[in-house]
Amino acid sequence: MESKTGVFFVTIACITIIFLVIGVWGCGPRKNKEVEEGKQLFIKHGCVTCHGLDGAGQPGKVPNLNDSTFKELYPTDDKMIEKIKQGDGAWEDSEMMNVKKKENLPIMPVFEKKCSNEEIVRIVKFIRTLLK
Ligand code: HEC
Repeated sequence: MESKTGVFFVTIACITIIFLVIGVWGCGPRKNKEVEEGKQLFIKHGCVTCHGLDGAGQPGKVPNLNDSTFKELYPTDDKMIEKIKQGDGAWEDSEMMNVKKKENLPIMPVFEKKCSNEEIVRIVKFIRTLLK
């Protein structure tokens, strides 16, 4: 009787391990796929023209998306998602925006209606991989 219980637990343990291994294997490629989709969306929606594919930005004009300062500014994905949705929209009609417009400086567009939430989530996953 005791050995039967032993066999039972060993079987359960083996099944658990097999599922864990499949789970870990399965998640890797899926994660990479989302990052790759995010990269394509980053290009498609024109983020790349201002921020660059490596997220380097343009000194004095467009902030970079790849250093530790940026990471500290956006500790959570939600905060970054919100920023991408709003763009420079929150500053509309401010003195800063008037200066930007007058000097023809790049203005971060509002993406709330241009991108779906799903798309922005994938873009953020891609941006997270740019960190130096
Ligand atoms: C026309 C140029 C332009 C385009 C296109 C653009 N951005 Fe920006 N982006 C900016 C500028 C300028 C800022 C700084 C404005 C600010 O912080 O209010 C900025 C700020 C940001 C920030 C915050 C950076 C920080 O340090 O606070 C993020 C994140 C970002 N952009 C992501 C994106 C993504 C993702 C896209 C595409 C969906 C995109 N941007 C498209 C110009 C652009």
